[in-house]
Amino acid sequence: MKAWALLVLLAAAAADLPANPNKSRKPKFSAADVAAGGRIFRSHCAECHGLTGEGGRGPDLTLGVFRHGAEDADLLATIMDGVPGTEMPGIYMEDHQAWQIVAYVRSLSARSAKRQVPGDAAAGEQVFRGRGACAQCHMVNGEGGRTGPDLSDAGGMRSAAFLRAALLEPDAYVRRAWWTYRLRTKAGEQVSGLALNQDTYSIQLLDAKGQLRSFAKSDLAGVEIDRKSPMPAYGGMLSQEEVDHVVAYLASLRRK
Ligand code: HEC
Ligand code: HEC
Repeated sequence: MKAWALLVLLAAAAADLPANPNKSRKPKFSAADVAAGGRIFRSHCAECHGLTGEGGRGPDLTLGVFRHGAEDADLLATIMDGVPGTEMPGIYMEDHQAWQIVAYVRSLSARSAKRQVPGDAAAGEQVFRGRGACAQCHMVNGEGGRTGPDLSDAGGMRSAAFLRAALLEPDAYVRRAWWTYRLRTKAGEQVSGLALNQDTYSIQLLDAKGQLRSFAKSDLAGVEIDRKSPMPAYGGMLSQEEVDHVVAYLASLRRK
């Protein structure tokens, strides 16, 4: 066992240490740790973060931007505990394996020189606010609509490839939070919207007008779930060049 893995175990055993004992004891990673972490990454993480960490359903991990904390100990906690309320699962691993994954994730951002995205971000912003009418549904830095996800951190969360695919084939991947629910009540009313909450007895919808509606399930005659994206596919609406510009704009967006 590596010396630092032992340290971690000892630290965990000592009850009077702070909750995050690893913070001050940055382990030294060897090339073998990085390689071992890479193997675990490809089998457990690549499905969402891409084979080389470039992002997909999960954020791009090559940028060196970690919203949930960028210390090694923060990364360890994120990886082991997951991010509640998101698709990021926790993973049960021995400490030394979890540290190897941290070593690998660290090695990714070291590698990412600024990747070039074809297109011009300023021109992309114009399309976003103008012809594309993206701001009608999407918020960027507090401005825009609420019927689509907030894109203020699009470049920190998503790879350029993911952003392009989101524009060209929005139906290919729609997070559960954006599924449209169509309810029919026994009284004959039809309402559709995003499901904000539901439990055994009731469901709360955000309707198209942005109003919160609550229904008792016993009052419903039917529920249909539409997993398609409410977002139009832009392949036919924007030129190839405009798509490049919009992708460059989105890729430039980082949480301030
Ligand atoms: C089922 C999809 C999925 C899998 C599998 C998955 N992740 Fe994630 N991961 C996500 C999502 C989604 C987020 C973004 C959570 C959020 O919204 O904050 C995330 C966030 C993260 C973050 C935090 C990024 C930040 O900005 O702080 C790290 C680090 C991370 N994942 C690493 C991993 C590692 C390592 C594995 C494998 C052990 C893994 N993930 C497996 C979906 C996944
Ligand atoms: C009618 C409303 C609407 C319009 C107009 C719209 N979008 Fe969307 N967009 C959505 C919704 C809803 C989602 C979430 C479902 C999905 O992933 O497709 C989404 C998802 C996205 C995503 C993926 C976000 C993520 O991290 O998962 C991106 C990127 C995006 N839109 C960019 C754009 C751009 C750029 C435009 C303009 C060219 C645009 N959208 C126009 C509603 C819209």
